Order: sequence, then C-alpha cells, then structure tokens
Amino acid sequence: MTTAPAPAPATGSASVQSTDDPPYAPPYQSYVYAYPHKTAYRELPDRPALRELWAGEPQHALSLYLHIPFCEVRCGFCNLFTRIGGPDGLTTAYLDALERQADAVRAALDEGARFALAAFGGGTPTYLGAAELERLCDIAEHRMGADLRAVPLSVEASPATATADRLAVLAERGTTRLSLGVQSFVDAEARSAVRPQKRADVEAALDRIRAAGFPVLNIDLIYGIDGQTEASWLHSLDAALAWQPEELYLYPLYVRPLTGLARRGEAESPAQWDARRLALYRSGRDHLLAHGYEQVSMRMFRRAAAPQAGVSEYACQTDGMVGLGCGARSYTSRLHYSFDYAVDATEVRRIIDDYVATETFDRAVVGRAMTPAEARRRHLVQSLLQAEGVALAEYRARFGSTPGEDFPAELAAFTARGWLADGADGSDGAGRLRLSPEGLAHSDAVGPMLFSPEVRTLMAEYEAK
Ligand SMILES: C[S@@+](CC[C@H](N)C(=O)[O-])C[C@H]1O[C@@H](n2cnc3c(N)ncnc32)[C@H](O)[C@@H]1O
Ligand code: SF4
Repeated sequence: MTTAPAPAPATGSASVQSTDDPPYAPPYQSYVYAYPHKTAYRELPDRPALRELWAGEPQHALSLYLHIPFCEVRCGFCNLFTRIGGPDGLTTAYLDALERQADAVRAALDEGARFALAAFGGGTPTYLGAAELERLCDIAEHRMGADLRAVPLSVEASPATATADRLAVLAERGTTRLSLGVQSFVDAEARSAVRPQKRADVEAALDRIRAAGFPVLNIDLIYGIDGQTEASWLHSLDAALAWQPEELYLYPLYVRPLTGLARRGEAESPAQWDARRLALYRSGRDHLLAHGYEQVSMRMFRRAAAPQAGVSEYACQTDGMVGLGCGARSYTSRLHYSFDYAVDATEVRRIIDDYVATETFDRAVVGRAMTPAEARRRHLVQSLLQAEGVALAEYRARFGSTPGEDFPAELAAFTARGWLADGADGSDGAGRLRLSPEGLAHSDAVGPMLFSPEVRTLMAEYEAK
C-alpha cells in the first residue's frame, strides 16, 4: 500500500488537515468483490478431496459459475484471468476439460444438490461461438443439473463478440441478465485505455442485445481514463442511459502490475488521479440518481423497479459457490479454492494448458481456509460495501454478536473519517450498519481496512506473475 498526500477537494473549497485528522487513506486501494482475495490463496499441500469438502454443506441453493478465459483482445487495464484467442482447437479442448471437471464436481455434491443462481463470466464467454455456447449451457444443465430456464443466469459479453447468433442461443437457454463491457462511448478514450473499439460497433451490439430481449441489460463503464473529463464522462453516461439499461456498473480505473497500461508513463500524480476519479465518481453517481437509478454499491446502480435477474457482485454472502473453469473460485463454508492465478500472458497460457491437460478434477489444489473469525470479516466486508449495509439482526443470528463488538478498532477508524452513517454504534436506527455517502465513495479503502492481518500478509507476499 502506498501513501500519498491528501488530494485537493473535489468541490474546490480549501481543505485544512489538522493534526487530529486520521492519516490519508488512498481511496482506490482494491476492489473487494470477494474476501479473501485470490492472491491470499496458496497451494494446498494435502489436496483435499472435493467429496470431503462438500460433505455436510448446505446444497439446496448453490451458485454455479463457469469461467471462460478467452478474449479477442487484451485490454490495457485488464488483469482478469484471460488470454487472447483460442488457437488450434483450444476452446474445444477447454470445453472438454470443463465437462470432465463438471462430472467430478457433480459426483462430489449430494444427489439432491440444487442451483439457485448461475453465471458465465470471463474473460469473455461470448468469445465462444453459438454451438460452443450451446455446449456450455449443456454442461451447466445436463452435467451439473442447473435448470437454466428457471434460475437467474447472468452472462458477460463484449461488443464485438455479442453477435446475433450467440445472443439468440443465450436468450433461448434462459439468460436473464446480459452484461456488456463498454468502458467508454468516446473512441479516443477507448483507445487511451487500450481497448480497440468504435462507438458505432458498441451501439450496434446494444441494438442486437435489446432485440434479443434479455430482461436485464447491464453496461460497464470506466472513469479515470487518461483524457477523460467530466463532460466526456457525462457524455458516455448519457449514451448509456439512452438504452435505459436496468443496471450500470461504474468502475474506477485501476492500473495494475503486468497490464498494458502499467507499462505506460504516468500523466498525473497519484494524488491528482485519486482526486479526478473521486470527482468523476461523484458526478456520475449524482447523474444516475437524478435519472431514476438507485445506488446498490459504490459501483452498481439499478434502474428503479428494474428486475433483479442476475448474480450481484456481493451475492456470495452465503456459502456454496461451485466454480468451473480454470479461473473460477469455489466456496464451501470451510475452504475457498481455485486454480493457480496469473496476469502475465505466458503464465496464463501455461495455466490454461495445464487445465485442459488435466484428467481428474476431484481435489482442490489452491485455496484458503475459512475460519470462524474470517467468516465474520467476510460477512462484514461484503455487506457493509453495499448501500443497504449490514442487517444487524442477521449478523447477530449468524454470529451471536454485533460488528461493533467484533471489530471495534476498524469501526472507530471509519467513524473518525465520517465513513459511517449516523447512529449510536454506527447503526442507522433501522437495525443496519451502513456507510455514509463518503464511506461508500471510499469503498475501495473501507474493504482493505477490514482484511485480517494474516490475509494482508499473504496478499503482500504474493508475487504478481
Ligand atoms: C469480464 S469484463 C466484461 C466483459 C467483457 N470481457 C468486456 O470487456 O467487454 C469485466 C469488467 O471489469 C471492468 N474492469 C476490468 N479491469 C478493470 C480495471 N483495471 N479498472 C477498471 N475496471 C476494470 C471493466 O469494466 C470490464 O467490463
Ligand atoms: S476487459 Fe474484457 S475483453 Fe478486455 S481483456 Fe478484460 S476480460 Fe477481455
């Protein structure tokens, strides 16, 4: 974690830092969509059998996640586990491996196991052709037993790969939420983010997606791109709003090690960039609130009265996520596990090649044990970062205590910064512990402050590859 001087206030008013003020916490430390982060996972020397890991776990409402680690391009900002292209039948070999893994995982679950949610993520699932997407759905339905037409199914897509034939397959198989990565409607900004894409192609993709009739369209946008101004940001937001998406995700740009943008020079100081991202966040949030959207979390906005048809970013509050594919995580109440993780292209290719060459998938190889103390942190992190906050009664029912009793130092630090909504022990009088608007704006600082010392150390020791 780096320290930097306090950024200039977004409003332009003078700010005076008194000696009693808490130290500056950079607002953009990490996007905590799951706790603990994969960089805290390590090789599991005993390689526990999946059958043992899943024995005794509640399995009446599992989540199913299938990961497709292929893209047409590698965007300059992206550190997701993915590679460019799938040459020489690699996508076929990957689907073959997914089938083997699905069989092994299904055999480890109870006979009565049921899935309540499903998602295909990436990478870019729609990198697969129409026939391959049929096969992917067959794996979820016939091998895993998920009834895709009866449960919410969310699928990620990029504009160029959202072709009519692929969308038709996804719609017919029961996709309820189609999430499109747009990032910016301004061609110069897409270029600057190293995302080769033309606005006309984005508009055409949105037209095809709306024609396919998915109940929920989500659009991903990024703020903080070099050259992006408040006016150009609002222009992108308006271009997105013209499609009346049921959901919008506004992502602050991160430049992470080993990505294309990380190899470029810095155009502004870290503090200036923090201040610009915070200002763009505020104007974007206010714009969406004024256009009838409600804020679900720092990143997520939902059109009022829109259906909830997907797996939201914090939907993993309960245990029981079954991930298939080499970048997918799985969660039981006692262990979070996955495969090896990398960003560097050569390493990603090696891990995918190892995955497709694997014959038996009946053991967990990389992961992190979930202790009762970590389960409390996880619950707190994942619910506090949502606008609706932590339901205190739910927390007490699960853990027999309150967040104030379990995390006094952390909550005091948030209070000192004005990051908690009003209320005695931080509760708002409605039985919830919630972030204030400033706290929500600083979600990517709040989350890391709740990491346990052990997880913090593991993440710091992790060597990016
Ligand atoms: C799996 S992608 C979406 C689907 C598809 N692959 C695409 O790019 O169109 C997930 C989203 O994460 C966001 N994202 C990824 N890396 C980011 C970064 N470094 N900074 C900000 N947002 C990022 C982008 O908005 C991206 O659309
Ligand atoms: S942003 Fe999407 S298309 Fe670009 S590299 Fe990442 S996963 Fe692939």
